[in-house]
Amino acid sequence: MEMAPWIRIVTLLIACLLPASVECLVRHYNFNVVMKNTTKLCSTKPIVTVNGKFPGPTLIAREDDTLLVKVVNHVHYNVTIHWHGVKQLRTGWADGPAYITQCPIQPGQTYVYNFTLTGQRGTLLYHAHILWLRATLHGAIVILPKRGVLYPFPKPHQEVVIVLAEWWKSDVQAVINEALQSGLAPNVSDAHTINGYPGPVSNCASERGYTLPVEPGKTYMLRVISAALNQNLFFKIAGHKFTVIEVDASYTKPFKTEMVLMAPGQTTNLLLETNLGTGKFMVTASPFKDAPVVVNSRTATGMLHYFGTFDDTTTIVTIPSAQNDTPLVDNFTVALRSLNSKEYPTRVPLKIDHSLFFTIGLGINPCETCVNGNHVVAYINNVTFNMPSISLLQAHFFNIKGVYTDDFPRNPPNKYNYTGTQPTNVQTMNGTRVYRLRYNSTVQLVLQNTAMLAPESHPIHLHGFNFFAIGSGLGNYNADKHPKKFNLVDPVERNTISVPGGGWMAIRFIADNPGVWFMHCHLEVHSTWGLEMAFVVENGKGPNESLLPPPNDLPKC
Ligand code: C2O
Repeated sequence: MEMAPWIRIVTLLIACLLPASVECLVRHYNFNVVMKNTTKLCSTKPIVTVNGKFPGPTLIAREDDTLLVKVVNHVHYNVTIHWHGVKQLRTGWADGPAYITQCPIQPGQTYVYNFTLTGQRGTLLYHAHILWLRATLHGAIVILPKRGVLYPFPKPHQEVVIVLAEWWKSDVQAVINEALQSGLAPNVSDAHTINGYPGPVSNCASERGYTLPVEPGKTYMLRVISAALNQNLFFKIAGHKFTVIEVDASYTKPFKTEMVLMAPGQTTNLLLETNLGTGKFMVTASPFKDAPVVVNSRTATGMLHYFGTFDDTTTIVTIPSAQNDTPLVDNFTVALRSLNSKEYPTRVPLKIDHSLFFTIGLGINPCETCVNGNHVVAYINNVTFNMPSISLLQAHFFNIKGVYTDDFPRNPPNKYNYTGTQPTNVQTMNGTRVYRLRYNSTVQLVLQNTAMLAPESHPIHLHGFNFFAIGSGLGNYNADKHPKKFNLVDPVERNTISVPGGGWMAIRFIADNPGVWFMHCHLEVHSTWGLEMAFVVENGKGPNESLLPPPNDLPKC
């Protein structure tokens, strides 16, 4: 017998009433989704926010805590919120992608996201998972280790959340709607931001940069999050090096670097030693782009300010990494290794039940109403994802037929030189197709980028799991040669990874979470164009191996 959701809540609430020595494991948050003008940007245009904040409020909890986040929708858009990187063990109803695990919260309605941070600690983010609302509706999730458990590195003097984002002067929904109508690429953003601040601009005195005040001779922990929509960003601080210690809420082997590459949806924890004693040092978030496509090339600037440094001191500037410095990015990616310690062992599945090979890229399909008679689309194995009109999870749980088919291809329909010259046929098929997995089966997935349209890197995000990135390379994946070099010892563990432009990436995961789990490119424009699919993971036979029933307040379509 499953424990009904209300029993879970009551049990947890009772636990909170016990004497003070017992830590309360339930944390309640109220998220009011409201339109708000932000004073950080030169604009009178209200934006969609959580509680009027941009970025939204930080959720702070400990490993294994349960969060009850009551979301009230006060705006005229449909809203959902996704807790990016939270595994949602058996609680897919709280995952958040619209039409995948829930129907949207309509204007005036409320939904309580109820989930537990089982076995996870580190930095994650939440963001809207519908339309392009996540541009401004996002914030940090800080998961501290359980009480009494130490970090696997010296305790920092202070922890600082840094959220990078992208901002449009015009209404972001209008931007994407216009693009969908014309069939062309949407306008690029007008600014990048660091904690909401773009940095000073000449025509607007109120617009300034984010300031990070520091004491000399200390170690700070920066929890850096990329909530950007469509662009990869380099993050740097002039004169200082970072030590990377965690990515996507998984500890890494510490390594020193001058810059950090952040793909949309990724998080990176850094240690920063304030060993220069005095002065002002520029902080930058600047674009990385590895394809011949238009980007917003503006750099967001902020400042690291040592206590006691006079305001009129000249700021030491940093030169942003070159926009197309792919080798730099590759070196950074290769340096990331999981910690693999006694306390935090890396358990890569060694026996594989499902060996999948997915090509990803962009295509062009006919469109009568579009400007050129066609429109840009995106695909996985030549399938462009069609958003259903009720959620896949409901269709799965209640056995509603006709919402999806479970014939997602395990290999691409045609073999060709994927990274060679562009194929003559760049058309795709449409479908709402899922790939079915048995509970606890193991998956190896090779993601192969193609040269269709632009050989651009794609940050692929998997909901419901962390995966291990066991290998990657340029050109075409070779199933005879490449597996010999896979790292099955200490590969980095994450939830979002960039498949290199003109290359491939191999990942492994264990399907130990029953439900429906979305996988997609975290560049919102590609996701909108259909670079998406879902895995259905069946229930297991044992206790605690099935998807819980939906909560009563699950929104209706
Ligand atoms: Cu961060 Cu499906 O998204």
